[in-house]
Amino acid sequence: MSSEKTLRKLLFSIATLEELGEVLSSQQEFQENMRMSLFSVMGSLPVSKGALFLFDPRKRKLCLEASRGLVLDGDEQIQLTGKMVELLRVRKKAVVAGGSPVRMAPFLKRAGKVFEDVRAEIIMPLNFRGELIGIITLGRKFNGEPFTVEDFDLLGIMANYIAIGIHNQDLFRSLESSNKALRRKASENKKLFRNLEGLYHDTIKALGAAIDAKDPYTRGHSERVACFAEVIAVRLGMNKLHVAAVRIASHLHDIGKIAIDNSVLLKPSRLNEQEMDQIHRHPTISYDILSNIKFPYPDVALIARHHHEWVNGSGYPDRIKMDGLNTGMKVLSLADAFDAMTSDRPYRPALGLDIALKEVWDNVYRQFDPQVSQAFFEIMQDEIEGNVTKPTIIPRIRSRYSPQKIKGLLWKVTQDLSMRPPPAEA
Ligand SMILES: [Fe+2]
Repeated sequence: MSSEKTLRKLLFSIATLEELGEVLSSQQEFQENMRMSLFSVMGSLPVSKGALFLFDPRKRKLCLEASRGLVLDGDEQIQLTGKMVELLRVRKKAVVAGGSPVRMAPFLKRAGKVFEDVRAEIIMPLNFRGELIGIITLGRKFNGEPFTVEDFDLLGIMANYIAIGIHNQDLFRSLESSNKALRRKASENKKLFRNLEGLYHDTIKALGAAIDAKDPYTRGHSERVACFAEVIAVRLGMNKLHVAAVRIASHLHDIGKIAIDNSVLLKPSRLNEQEMDQIHRHPTISYDILSNIKFPYPDVALIARHHHEWVNGSGYPDRIKMDGLNTGMKVLSLADAFDAMTSDRPYRPALGLDIALKEVWDNVYRQFDPQVSQAFFEIMQDEIEGNVTKPTIIPRIRSRYSPQKIKGLLWKVTQDLSMRPPPAEA
């Protein structure tokens, strides 16, 4: 799949997950929620035939809850054996009907009638905390193409969402008896569902990687920048929500590069003025794309827009100075610049770590915020001195360095920054 196509698909996936989250946490009729959830899954792949079955553990049956594109009588049930339940319960990935593992064969055979009708290509179990909740079965893709790895990834994420949503709604439904303890549990569960950062984050990460894939020089860039930015944001004491916003913005900050011509993006020599203008448009385009997505974190699109601003106001696109930039923007700006310096570029090889650190140091108050820089250097110092058990930045640095030399340099920098007064305004 081309990187543009992958990008479009992933953007669509984020929007779908958002929508799905809203559907599943809304108070509307359970059956309607299930129908909408199934339609979301079908629309995102997309397929024309599909069905969602819920598992009744007492009768050990899968019961049809929603379907589309099928002539079913609405009362379809699939009796399972204990062995089949066990197989589906532990299965984390979709089962491809044609290439199913031998162990799944009896299940597929028994469920033949329904799956024949769906022309089932995929059976995705819905599991929550080791319990089988149901299954989704899907027919062929509209365009007749085979399902891709990305399709399976997205399906896995959506199935998790739906399984948790069903479990949660089940709890709410049993609340009719107004059991207080149960109500508390259900609301906790609802929170859990809403905070399923991990799943959401996986999609964002995949999107970041797809952005980087457009340019071989930036492979892994978004992932590294997100790691650097997150650890700096945490060190600065930013709250969880803002840290997540910085992390997501870091993964997606360069998404606007999809609109920049490859001949400019990958040009190995100096860019002319026109080409430079093109490059300078990417943060605004990133903003335009991201501002259409409803992120559950504050200012993601804005943070991405301002990742090339300098604190002295000579960055782009809006030439905003220190006070106009929030901490998230300043963190991303430093993390991004540092990774760019320590990575190969089409027009130059990676700078040595000592040179990159000096570059950041020289540009404090000019390009970089002093507090953010101080936090960054302190983290580096802790990591290189072995004061942290799980270092984040050092293992991801791509240029060579001598630890002894870097230790000395970092000591000097942190001393200097803690003493240095801000420069007088020009
Ligand atoms: Fe950028």
